Amino acid sequence: MIRLEVELGARSYPIDIGCGVLDAPSAWRPAIAGKHVLVLSNTVVAPLYLDRVLAGLHGLEHATVILEDGEQHKTFDNVARVLDALARLGASRNATLIALGGGVVGDLGGFAAACWMRGIDFVQMPTTLLAMVDSSVGGKTGVNLPAGKNLVGAFHQPRAVFIDIATLATLPRREYIAGLAEVLKYGAIGDAAFFAWIEAHADALLARDERALEQAIAQSCRHKAGVVARDERETGERALLNFGHTFGHALEVEAGYGRLLHGEAVAIGMLLAARLSSRLGRAPASDADRLQTLLQRLGLPTGLPPGCAADRLLERMRLDKKSVSGQLRLVLWKGLGAADIVGGIDESLIRSELEQAIAAVA
Ligand code: NAD
Ligand code: GLY
Repeated sequence: MIRLEVELGARSYPIDIGCGVLDAPSAWRPAIAGKHVLVLSNTVVAPLYLDRVLAGLHGLEHATVILEDGEQHKTFDNVARVLDALARLGASRNATLIALGGGVVGDLGGFAAACWMRGIDFVQMPTTLLAMVDSSVGGKTGVNLPAGKNLVGAFHQPRAVFIDIATLATLPRREYIAGLAEVLKYGAIGDAAFFAWIEAHADALLARDERALEQAIAQSCRHKAGVVARDERETGERALLNFGHTFGHALEVEAGYGRLLHGEAVAIGMLLAARLSSRLGRAPASDADRLQTLLQRLGLPTGLPPGCAADRLLERMRLDKKSVSGQLRLVLWKGLGAADIVGGIDESLIRSELEQAIAAVA
């Protein structure tokens, strides 16, 4: 078992990573302070793993809420369902909410925990690779509105994160590979040695080798924990975690939600950002080639989906949260292992990059 710490003073919390963590309540039960526990999961994850968590809750008053599966259920209505369940449970301020599932369950559960009595403890038990290396750490919680994704939310840090690598055995291959894009991102933006380690262990990671996974998840969480400790509210450095995301979000929407998984869109977006960095003379083209090779080896897409138009993509990119007064700001890199936020980019260069990528798949 590997234990990391997110250093946030009185709100610091551990991230425990290992195989079989859920089966060892002695590892996670001490994170529960009071006597009321609500476990939130979904219809896919609950039949697989809920029993293990419930087995560790004897002696406590607990209830469960099981969401339908999918991003479309990350809604206010479901937050209300969770809050109603907390009310029925008689949950007081020292109650705990356990989020058992992927990023959808974690984001919604964290937001409900932030709302109930102005904030109760919550514990993340992520079961997708994306949730393990990204969404379960850092306290960004929230839900979607018809107007857009993640438009409502709160910063609310978990009390603890318990990552049971064994749960990845049941994750569909496509979801698993999409999660690898976020792992690779940490190497790309801040750790060239980690990037090289992923290159060397690509086959082991694809085979879901537990030892390789433990190291990859731990190193990713180390990076995320460091960034969150230094910039919890995203006033600066935390925005670097959005490498590839401005392009990626635009592609996700253009392709139609659900056609590209988030990690797949981020993979294409990271490559576009790397190529644009070379075009701007900020980074060697050979580093972008290296990124492309690794993405392809991991089975991630690198080409734009059919039917994309540069104008529409640019329009969507301007809606990104990093834009200031409609002016795009992008996370670009200076080559492997170093990124920064860049504003004032000549839009015609971004357009050319997009047009070239569109022509390449036509
Ligand atoms: P998800 O929660 O929808 O999970 C993906 C799929 O895998 C779902 O069908 C789920 O039921 C299934 N699943 C989960 N664990 C499984 C397992 N062990 N075995 C079999 N199936 C399993 O999606 P995700 O990719 O985990 O998360 C995406 C969400 O995370 C988005 O809503 C996104 O906005 C959010 N997110 C949040 C942050 C943050 O910092 N809070 C960061 C990145 C993404
Ligand atoms: N997923 C980006 C962040 O947590 O800031």
